[in-house]
Amino acid sequence: MLAGKRILLIIGGGIAAYKALELIRLIQKAGASVVPVLTRAGAEFVTPLSVGALAGAKVYQDLFDLTDEAEMGHIQLSRAADLVVVAPATADLLAKMAGGRADDLASTLLLATDKRVLVAPAMNVRMWEHAATRRNLAVLRGDGVLTVGPDDGEMACGEYGPGRMAEPAAIVEAIKAALGGGPLSGRHVVVTSGPTHEPVDPVRYIANRSSGAQGTAIAAALRDLGARVTFVTGPAVVAPPVGVMVVRVETAREMAAAVEAALPADAAVMTAAVADWRVVNASAQKMKKDGSGKAPVLEFAENPDILALVATGSSRPRLVVGFAAETTDVVAHAMAKRARKGCDWIVANDVSPGTGIMGGTENEVVLISDAGAEAWPRMGKGEVARRLALKIAEALA
Ligand code: CTP
Repeated sequence: MLAGKRILLIIGGGIAAYKALELIRLIQKAGASVVPVLTRAGAEFVTPLSVGALAGAKVYQDLFDLTDEAEMGHIQLSRAADLVVVAPATADLLAKMAGGRADDLASTLLLATDKRVLVAPAMNVRMWEHAATRRNLAVLRGDGVLTVGPDDGEMACGEYGPGRMAEPAAIVEAIKAALGGGPLSGRHVVVTSGPTHEPVDPVRYIANRSSGAQGTAIAAALRDLGARVTFVTGPAVVAPPVGVMVVRVETAREMAAAVEAALPADAAVMTAAVADWRVVNASAQKMKKDGSGKAPVLEFAENPDILALVATGSSRPRLVVGFAAETTDVVAHAMAKRARKGCDWIVANDVSPGTGIMGGTENEVVLISDAGAEAWPRMGKGEVARRLALKIAEALA
């Protein structure tokens, strides 16, 4: 199940660190290898010798160990893994992660990684219930960090309640799920997102108000169901999700090329707000006022319609989903758009200023397919994304 996978295991400083030894054994039994990192506090609970002996690998401890930098720098160490697991994740480690601190090897790796992170919190029940820990966890979940546990039970400190680290077997199950045991495992989905920027001159461009929030949420939801996601994004406000292949572009033409290069795929979801037009007489130098009061005249040419190209191209994915941002007659326009572009589904929404949808956190969509129009209630963009991802999984099953 985990054959050939590489787990970067960060062992924090808590009494539960002893369970990390059992965890190493179980991860290996499932076929994966473990690269262990021991925090300074972690080394107070388990020795580097026992961790290294069980993992059959070097134990990394010090950010400034020059040998490590010569052999494998911390950036590479954080990226060579398929998944980063923090067990036990202490309140302090979670706080560092939530705050983006990088003052030792473990926190630096967590900040530098481009892989998903799974944390197994373990701490005293009061610390677990403290508002600061709640807050940190909410931030981390928002960043896409996965959690397993903690369990309820009697703790080493004598108190009772939630805070005990999840059992190693449960952590291994969570690792399996994080590495793609979901209904979309083995599937490749291309997602476009964000606005495009069409240059006018080297310092100016034409853009739109898309934040990239809905596309980012969809990419994350597809990833959570196990899909391999190629995320082609214009210059968005919202940061791309972790654990997906990110391709950054600026213009519509760059986006079209990146999408074509990403095919074949099982599905394509085009959430990007692609500029319909580009400036053909864009200036190579900054355009200056010449004092005459005469305004410059921009000439436009139509951009490639990426959705239509994908839907009618020779490497058409099995399922092609488009979005329709409308301000009037949403369903009628979206139905016409679906037919015109040749896609399977259109997710239509009303982006009139009063709706607060463009750039906001909520969305209210109508899903148009050959079954007709299905109106979804207004909900968070994350929820829209999860529902859509599940529908995509059903369609590809
Ligand atoms: N789209 C695309 N390439 C373009 C324009 C749009 O891939 N050059 C995709 C969008 O990502 C979206 C869908 O087409 O999935 C519809 O985008 P929208 O802007 O609503 O439609 P337009 O094609 O611009 O049509 P209209 O101008 O009639 O609104």
